[in-house]
Amino acid sequence: MKVVCLPGDCIGPEVMAEARRALLVLAPDLEIDERPFGGEAIRQHGEPLPADTLEACREADAILKAPIGHPDFDAADVRPEQGVMRLRAELDVYANLRPARQDGIDLLLLRELVGGIYYGARGVRDDGTVFDTCEYHPSQVERIVRRAFELSRSRRRHVTSVDKANVLETSRMWRRVAAEVAAENPDVEFEHMLADNAAMQLVQAPERFDVLVTDNMFGDILSDEAAAVTGGLGLAGSASLGDSGPGIFEPVHGSAPDIAGQGIANPAAMLRSTALMLAFGLGRQDEARLLEHAVDRALAEAPTPDLGGSATTRQFGDEVLAALSP
Ligand code: NAD
Ligand code: IPM
Ligand code: MN
Repeated sequence: MKVVCLPGDCIGPEVMAEARRALLVLAPDLEIDERPFGGEAIRQHGEPLPADTLEACREADAILKAPIGHPDFDAADVRPEQGVMRLRAELDVYANLRPARQDGIDLLLLRELVGGIYYGARGVRDDGTVFDTCEYHPSQVERIVRRAFELSRSRRRHVTSVDKANVLETSRMWRRVAAEVAAENPDVEFEHMLADNAAMQLVQAPERFDVLVTDNMFGDILSDEAAAVTGGLGLAGSASLGDSGPGIFEPVHGSAPDIAGQGIANPAAMLRSTALMLAFGLGRQDEARLLEHAVDRALAEAPTPDLGGSATTRQFGDEVLAALSP
């Protein structure tokens, strides 16, 4: 099995190194092909997703991606983030699973990943007005909502569809399509919720949620919030899946330029993304479980500064390796 590894920018290579060390112990048979991507690829090749990297990704069984992004490109025309958006669209990984679990909270935020305002027309009008447009086709909504119901069946069978149907036309269509899919799945409890209320309830009563399904933009924001209420961004992994072809497995967090180079980034989110890759991307449930348990042990034994501890990235990784070795 072949995995393309994209080490990314800032803390990206620091957390990826720990994922690779764990994979070497857990799944030494995996063929790992490291490729340039993001800011590093712009520096080397002038573009965030070089053709060779995309080709390697298409041919892989799974893609393990560390965060990209660097302040050097904040005002640039060509940005690392464009590579992320293009890779997601090229592989049509429309279903982004962002689980959040801790102390009685166990929710799965399912974010539509290849549509909405991220991909609609944008530009500048003659009078200087700048615009980004949110566009969805009903088929894009239907497939992500169907995925939410499927995923809820191996959980608590409760789906919350989050939109802004009191204001947005795309949300009104989203709500109509979601209700149609819900009617076909009467064994799953279903509710609609407005996005502002969902943001509030995620803080006030996060344990009430099982599966939340929402669009690209709301999902981006609510997934950072879900991570924050379950221990922080340093813990949150994700899986981005299509109907076929390789998935992308990456942390919810970004490249954290504020702590880059210090060796103190929490690699748990990267390692949990690696566990999601083993489970969802490669069908290796046993290794995935072993890695999840090893991460839980490291969180207890060697917490990093973001969790109030003093372990370095490497010390956390050492603890993971110790838990993996019998
Ligand atoms: P961020 O997620 O990088 O950081 C937010 C805060 O969380 C920072 O204080 C950071 O130090 C902390 N943090 C994040 N991950 C951590 C970890 N593993 N351990 C300890 N602390 C951690 O968000 P930002 O600062 O808004 O964005 C920085 C860059 O990352 C931007 O260029 C952005 O576009 C990019 N980004 C990339 C991805 C991706 O590649 N999927 C995701 C989000 C943001
Ligand atoms: C994420 C990130 C990305 C997004 C950026 C880097 C394009 O914030 O994966 O959550 O907004 O989707
Ligand atoms: Mn984000």
